[in-house]
This record gives sequence, structure tokens and C-alpha cells, in this order.
Amino acid sequence: MIHRSPGSPGMLRRALLTGTAGLLAAAGLAGAAGTADAASTLGASAAAKGRYFGTAVAAGHLGESAYAGTLDTEFTAVTPENEMKWDAVEATRNSFTFSAADQIVTHARGKGMKVRGHTLVWYSQLPGWVGGLSATDLRTAMNNHITQVMTHYKGGIYAWDVVNEAFQDGGSGARRSSPFQDKLGDGYIEEAFRTARSVDPNAKLCYNDYNTDGQNAKSNAVYAMVKDFKQRGVPIDCVGFQSHFNSASPVPSDYRANLQRFADLGVDVQITELDIEGSGSAQATSYTNVVNACLAVSRCTGLTVWGITDKYSWRSSGTPLLFDGNYGKKPAYTAVLTALGGSGGGGGGTASCAATYSLTQSWNGGFNGQVTVRAGSTAITTWTVTVTVTPPQKVSATWNGSPSWDGTGNVMTMKPNGNGSLAAGASTSFGFTVQTNGNTAAPVVGGCTAG
Ligand code: XIL
Repeated sequence: MIHRSPGSPGMLRRALLTGTAGLLAAAGLAGAAGTADAASTLGASAAAKGRYFGTAVAAGHLGESAYAGTLDTEFTAVTPENEMKWDAVEATRNSFTFSAADQIVTHARGKGMKVRGHTLVWYSQLPGWVGGLSATDLRTAMNNHITQVMTHYKGGIYAWDVVNEAFQDGGSGARRSSPFQDKLGDGYIEEAFRTARSVDPNAKLCYNDYNTDGQNAKSNAVYAMVKDFKQRGVPIDCVGFQSHFNSASPVPSDYRANLQRFADLGVDVQITELDIEGSGSAQATSYTNVVNACLAVSRCTGLTVWGITDKYSWRSSGTPLLFDGNYGKKPAYTAVLTALGGSGGGGGGTASCAATYSLTQSWNGGFNGQVTVRAGSTAITTWTVTVTVTPPQKVSATWNGSPSWDGTGNVMTMKPNGNGSLAAGASTSFGFTVQTNGNTAAPVVGGCTAG
């Protein structure tokens, strides 16, 4: 939206910038960069409780500074959202592509984050060729897939979801139909775990599923399998509880008890794909309940949310995550941080921002300026920047901000137009047109004040 200041003349003339046109850039900096307190992030707070706090990551978003900035500030573990799935790494038989997954693993290792490998054997996101194999060939292909993928990442993966979603929903407790189940029978799960252990004995090996978060027929069936594996010495180290919740599938009241009964079998438990549709305090309370359940179970070694920002969630319309579409911290974020024993939710540390001016266009009689507002090392919820022009210059239009004016009309105070939340290190910008009226001096951009 374009805001026109009082006295704005009608049509604006715009031309492409053809050099600097004698206008110098001015920069305004204010506020010391805040140093985040150790317990003011999800990752640091969870670490103080002996746990990791992870997120699903999509390689395609790592180039977005606010995405990577929030990831690096808040999280201590990652799970590639799709990049390690069978269709991503072995779309064609025995031809492996690891580039997208490698991007995530390299980023995570560079920051000292854990990586959860997701996933080796799953009925979904499975290339069609797998379903066309004979039983003998399928067994060979499954073991080859596990071996090749785990070898590529050997030594660098904290835990692998070796088998994902092998059980049916509903009351039957039966195995889900899949090429593996249908051609190899129940034993494929055991075989996958044995192969996985032989390839990377240092990775924890998990079974992962959804609708197993409370005690029900499906979780009872998984429980029976894990118990049997432990009794017979089939290698299994952990069970993942996806924990995708909404109003039709809320956080179960026996969530903690269910985690505990699995832990009592001698496996770690992990919350692996947490997201809870909703908003405000109801969503925050549900998140609190999940965190408290994990903290109450000593073998619950960590939690992973299924994405950073609502805008990239696989269930985006349900706004199920901890950061809104502008990377602002939601009440759910503050609730999780508080449950983890941290503090400073909603902007811990010293809120600060910096404003930087640049000339984007100029023409005979006018120019366009742009101010980039960047948050310091702590997320901010709003910002204020002043822009002063030299009489007889006049600001004739603005965009991406909400301006107000002093009595002279020379000093413009700009605030966000709508949501002013910026994640740590994230930036936004606003623009304005100046009519020079004969004076081509650059505007003076004052300090940025964060809120
Ligand atoms: C989802 C991803 O988030 C989507 O991007 C993709 O289109 C489908 O898969 N259970 C799982 C995850 O184990 O791998 C799924 O991830 C969500 C449900």
C-alpha cells in the first residue's frame, strides 16, 4: 500500500537509477547487539534439562536469512523434512542422490546440531519401482537402500527412523499394507533393524509412528513389537512419537504414561514431529503439556517440532508451529520455553535493531529511498525509525510502513505496517519518495528503536 503524505503532488515520476546521482547513503545504527542469555532459547533451555530441541528442516529454505537465523539461534537438532526419504535419495534403483540432504547435514554439523535421519523404510514417498519387485528382489533392495544411505551418513546421525508408520490406524492393531509388508511379511521390520545396526552401530535405531501418542490399539501393537524385539535381542534403541495434534486428535491425557511404558521396555523415547494446530493460549497449553510429559520421562531424550515457521508447515492453514509466518514468537513459543525452564520468551535479551539507508531510484526532481530494518541477536516485535529530509525537500509517498510526521513535515517517524515481528538477524524494509525541489541531499536516517 502506498501512503501519500499531506500536500503530495499528483503523479510521481519514476525512472531507473542511473548511477548514484550524487546522493550519499546514510546509515543509522542504534542499540548494542544483545547477547542472548543461555536459557533464552529453546535449544539452550532443553540442553539445561539434558535434552535436544529440534526441528524439521527443508533444504530449499536454508538460503532465507530469517529461516536459517531462527534455526541457528533456537534449535540444537534437525530432521530433514523430505530430503532423506526413499524417493529423494534413490528415485532410480541403486542410483543415489544425497545433495539436498547433504546441505542440511552440513549446515547442522557446522552448528553442532544433532541430526535425526528420516526415514529408511516407509510405505509413503516410495518410488514406484520398489513396489514392482519380487519378494527376493525387494529384500535385496531394502537392505541395499539401508546400507547405502546409512553408510553415506555413517558417524553423523544421532538417530535413524529405521521404519516409519508400519501399523494401521483404528482398532485392529494390524500391520499396514505396503510392498514390504505384503511381500516380506512381519519380519521385514526386524530385518531392517538388524541391517541398520550392522551398518552404523553408533546411530540410535528408532521405530517412528503417529496416533501412537496415547494408549490405544495402535500403540499397544507397537508396544508389543518393541517388547518382543527387546526380549529377542533385535536391535532397537528408541521409539519416535510423531505427535501431530489438532482438535480432532488432541494431546492425549495419558501421553506421559504412554511414553513411560515404552521407556520402561528399555528404549529411549522421542517426540519426533510435533505440531499442534490452533493459536493463542489453547495452543500454548497443549504445547506445555507435551513438553512437561517429555520432561517427566527420564528416557525422553528430546523433542522435534515439524518445522520452524507456520508459513512453511505441511499443515500451514492450521498454524501449528512455534513461530508465525514472520518468524515472530507465538504464545506457544513462550509456553515451550517456560516449560523448559527458560526465560525471556517473546524477546529475551536486549532487543535491538539497525536501520540502513540506500538509494534505489532517482530522476530529475526526485528519488526513491529504501530503509532496511534488521533485528539484532534477539527477536523483536516492533521497530521505529526516523527519516529526516532537508527543506525544501518533501516526502511524497511511502510504502511498507506506517508513517507519522512532525509539525514541519521534514521528520517522518516510520513504524511497521501491520506485524512488526522480526526474528533475530531477520530484516524487512520500507521505502519512500522524496521530491527534491532543487536540493538533492540524502535523507538522514536516525536510529532504529526496537520493541
Ligand atoms: C511430510 C512432509 O512434512 C511434507 O512436506 C511431505 O509432503 C509429506 O510428508 N509423517 C512423517 C513425515 O513421518 O515424513 C511427514 O512429512 C508427515 C507425517
